[in-house]
Amino acid sequence: ENLQDFIEGMPKCELHVHVEGTLEPEMKFELAKRNNIELPYANIEALKNAYDFDDLPSFLAIYYEGMNVLLTEQDFFDLTYAYLVKAHSQNVLYTEMFFDPQAHTARGVGFDTVIRGIRRAQIAAETSLGIRSQLIMCFLRDWSAEFAMTTLLQSLPYKEWIIGVGLDSDERNNPPMKFNKVFQRAREEGYLLTVHCDVNQQGSIQHIWQAVNDIGADRLDHGVNAIEDKALCEEIKKRSLALTMCPISNAYVVGGTKADVLDQMLDLGMRVTVNSDDPAYFPGYMNENLIRLQEEVNLGKDKLVQLTRNAFEGAWLPRATKDRYL
Ligand code: ADE
Ligand code: ZN
Repeated sequence: ENLQDFIEGMPKCELHVHVEGTLEPEMKFELAKRNNIELPYANIEALKNAYDFDDLPSFLAIYYEGMNVLLTEQDFFDLTYAYLVKAHSQNVLYTEMFFDPQAHTARGVGFDTVIRGIRRAQIAAETSLGIRSQLIMCFLRDWSAEFAMTTLLQSLPYKEWIIGVGLDSDERNNPPMKFNKVFQRAREEGYLLTVHCDVNQQGSIQHIWQAVNDIGADRLDHGVNAIEDKALCEEIKKRSLALTMCPISNAYVVGGTKADVLDQMLDLGMRVTVNSDDPAYFPGYMNENLIRLQEEVNLGKDKLVQLTRNAFEGAWLPRATKDRYL
């Protein structure tokens, strides 16, 4: 059965999207022009052809290079607003967006410039379209714990605008425990915690255990490899941790969507969700990810609805607000 119309019509919730990963080639050119930056590509086609990645590091190199066009508060507004318009067009009612402040402060863009632009777009999109959103600040795990701590302290004046903190970028040799102190301080400050546990990393299982037991994460991003450890799956289930999976992203980064694992976890009663990750680079927003998954493992309406319920249940919203969506 073709459930494409059903998927498109379903109210949705997204929990794993990097706002800088929604920078579409068209906007990249627009912002480059506005900021008088010369891109090393003649046109959009040439830029797209340079999107040549087959693992996490080769993706990240292109992802960070792409951000150089983001300089002013207006740039961050435009980026965020365009994503929220797109999400709203796919019937996403609520979204939690990651942002990577260190990728900007490290090249001289102010923390306040970044967050003020994003925040203004969130309010504008909620007012004009009704889409709600919250922000999660990610630390870049391939930089030092000290830089992460400095960034955490920088964020404190904007605490009311940030619901939680996460950990992203290159996982290799950068286990969650490297940032234990930063995460504990973040929790003391009232932030919720999540950790990228990327697919098929060296020490994946150990990293997921660390995220759960040592960091005390409230959520896990990806977390596909937990399937290899029965006790770990039990623990994740016991704690009702949501796992934010990204099928099309997986297809690019590890060569397969891992749809089978997602389906298995649904059967185990785990709180798995479907998300877009970096939709401008791994082409596909929420609908495309759900459609791809449905095609691969032939999910029925019941499981598609379960995925959406899982996302709203896993959302970092007050109980009463979640209930209005459910
Ligand atoms: N930063 C942006 N996208 C990411 C991903 N898929 N994995 C790790 N870090 C990221
Ligand atoms: Zn991610």
